[in-house]
Amino acid sequence: MADSPTSISDKWWHSAAVYQVYPRSFFDGNGDSLGDLVGVQSKLPYLKKLGIDAIWLSPFYPSPQHDSGYDVADPRDVDSIYGTLSDTQSLIDASHELDIKVMVDLVPNHVSIDHPWFQAALASPPGSKERARFHFLDAGEQPPNNWVSMFGGPAWTQITEANGELGQCYLHVFDSSQPDLNWTNPDVAADWIDTLKFWLDRGVDGFRVDVAHGLAKDMTYADLPDPVGLTEALRFDLDDGSTEAAERRLLIENSGFFDRDELQEIYREWRKVLDSYPGDRMAVSEAWVPAHRAGRYVSPTSLHQIFGFDFLVVAWSASVMQETIKKAIAAVQAVGAPPTWALSNHDSPRVVTRLGGGETGLARARALAMVAHALPGSIYVYQGEELGLPDAPLADSDREDPVFFRTNGAQKGRDGARVPLPWTASSAPYGFTESESATWLPQPDHWSQLSVEAEDFDAASTLNLYRASLDQREQFRGEVRFIDSGDSEVMIFARDNGIHMAVNTGLEAYSLPEFLLEAEIMLDSEVVKILGDKTEVLPPNCARWFRVFT
Ligand code: GLC
Repeated sequence: MADSPTSISDKWWHSAAVYQVYPRSFFDGNGDSLGDLVGVQSKLPYLKKLGIDAIWLSPFYPSPQHDSGYDVADPRDVDSIYGTLSDTQSLIDASHELDIKVMVDLVPNHVSIDHPWFQAALASPPGSKERARFHFLDAGEQPPNNWVSMFGGPAWTQITEANGELGQCYLHVFDSSQPDLNWTNPDVAADWIDTLKFWLDRGVDGFRVDVAHGLAKDMTYADLPDPVGLTEALRFDLDDGSTEAAERRLLIENSGFFDRDELQEIYREWRKVLDSYPGDRMAVSEAWVPAHRAGRYVSPTSLHQIFGFDFLVVAWSASVMQETIKKAIAAVQAVGAPPTWALSNHDSPRVVTRLGGGETGLARARALAMVAHALPGSIYVYQGEELGLPDAPLADSDREDPVFFRTNGAQKGRDGARVPLPWTASSAPYGFTESESATWLPQPDHWSQLSVEAEDFDAASTLNLYRASLDQREQFRGEVRFIDSGDSEVMIFARDNGIHMAVNTGLEAYSLPEFLLEAEIMLDSEVVKILGDKTEVLPPNCARWFRVFT
């Protein structure tokens, strides 16, 4: 029988809980005030207890850190601020001993300006083979075309040639410190196969492929009808069936630098490499495409998963959520792949903040986690999400994100979600580091009660809710069957074994239907474990899991 996203599968990534480690902010193991690989390894027991199946490490490669390491100068080495190659081996081995899989981040769309290839390109003349690995074009008064950077401003930067004169422009869909590679160049494709093998040989179980929808470009470099609209459509389209969504679709389907057909060939080659290794090696694509395009990234001849980003943007509305879930599952089911669900990541506001902040935001974030954890497929948990951290308030002078600088502060950027984790219930740096120096982003004064130590002891904490839900979700099997709740603000769905999930996004308490009143309560997002009497209502901003006995 073919694998189905809702069947019990022997492939770990079909239903894994993957924890995203953002190394610089996770834990400082060597006392220099920046997180590192030794720090990650020392916290593996914490992650094991949390109940995750895999870790995904955001980039730790040599980098001038213009985009927090997503500007990679050598994808087959380790930046000394994070450790050494032997630290990665030690982390991979120690994780495997605890039965935790390891995924590393690949950034194949672009490299850093410090990458030897780009340095060689700068030192070589127009038309040289060194420049052909990138997108160098002659410039006139204007950039070569109207493409814009995802971080704001033009997607082209003009260089000064060896003779001291202004010369060609190079393409960067992100920051000017991240020149895009030319994937039609055979050197590029071959070098990335080497990188895949390099990490597979070291035992990694999977890859997170950064900007997986971006590698192929329109090599005629034609102007786009609405380049700014395109970048917005890719990131925020919930595919709600509206006229606006249809217009956005059109922009994407005619895009010059995202989601192009030529990508299929690249991933076909990658898949061959992954399949040639023993074990279930996998890759998840970070491809910001609407649901109806998702299947292009997941098939037996392409990658294995695509991030489901709908929950990063979905409105706090049961009916919207229900439609979103249906579409997301259908999109990948069509190609026999499991869905995936992410509530947050290092590029998005933390979910507590996005859903209103304060107690309300926290209650909703906890409930949304229970929705996601009850669904089939894999879940991705961004570090600190399990603590219910909100975005940290930052002064503009603290910010490091290129988004902030490229938009002249019009967009604040992503730093608020990247602040170092609080480990102990003390004061900043909350046990994150033993160093006296300031952390790279300042932690708020009021995070003591959100620390691992404080939450560990609090039975109703977000940490203990996550531990319980990650433990129990392993029992969930079967298709999602939606049940009419009679209230547009309440979503109820069932899985096999009588397991039901109910969430209330409204302002009023919801009177539960008879069949749920008689059920066993497995977990409650507000109090974690309801002991004794069963309550008859589901409060606003609350989710609950039930086991119905028939
Ligand atoms: C991805 C990363 C993001 C980075 C960008 C450029 O979207 O997740 O952090 O800035 O790619 O590499």
